[in-house]
Amino acid sequence: MYAPDDRKPLTVPALAEAKRGGHKLAMLTAYDAGFARVFDENGTELLLVGDSLGMVVQGQNSTLPVSVDDMVYHTTIVARAVKRALLIADLPFQSDATPERALEASTRLLQAGAQMVKLEGAGHKLDVIRFLTEREIPVCGHLGLTPQSVLRFGGYKVQGREDATAQRLRADAAAVAEAGATLLVLECVPSGLAQAITQAIPIPTIGIGAGPHCDGQVLVLHDFLGLHTGHRRPKFVKDFLGEGGSVAGAVKAYIAAVRDGSFPDAEHSYE
Ligand code: KIV
Repeated sequence: MYAPDDRKPLTVPALAEAKRGGHKLAMLTAYDAGFARVFDENGTELLLVGDSLGMVVQGQNSTLPVSVDDMVYHTTIVARAVKRALLIADLPFQSDATPERALEASTRLLQAGAQMVKLEGAGHKLDVIRFLTEREIPVCGHLGLTPQSVLRFGGYKVQGREDATAQRLRADAAAVAEAGATLLVLECVPSGLAQAITQAIPIPTIGIGAGPHCDGQVLVLHDFLGLHTGHRRPKFVKDFLGEGGSVAGAVKAYIAAVRDGSFPDAEHSYE
């Protein structure tokens, strides 16, 4: 069974063990070796090289301009610092439009040091998830507010508030797990819906703006440290640097709050 104080590297099969054992997983995004080292050394179990780097590192208005080359570069420099955390890298916009393109991009990301790739959506992406997992590429799904869908959504809005969209998200989550994903990020969905999905599927859910009942939580580095990025500050964001007093202290405070269920509270969740 997965033990949180175990200093051994976290593996893909241990994720299901963590869920079965009721252990809450703490994830942060990282884009460079310096932060990745502090996050890893202080016990962050999952590190994500997110395509959010387009917005928080490159200063773009969305994640759409991020390229596979960008992702490979940041994954390479993060991977140099990671000893224990499980490293996940995002497939950027349209690099997963077909199974073949996704295989090519994912191979580059795994060769750069990632152990899993994350991709957004269900629908035709289910074939992509199946194609990758059958070829030994672990996959993390991402549903709810999928930032690569910002043009269709008309902005960064909470998803799943109406019965029809909630039902669709529940079905999509089951389908993503069924297709072979081993982890699922739920972004900006009402707490009750995230709880229902978490109870219904066998793989761990990682919430961001999805309430306290997910199997783990993720925050973007800049949000977690209270850095202003020039974008609107979402409700679910909490500055842990204030209470932690240092980056290492912030990581410890964040992990403790995820594990004891005090983050996110109602103030940082959607109903
Ligand atoms: O790109 C990213 O950082 C993400 C997280 C918000 C989950 O997808």
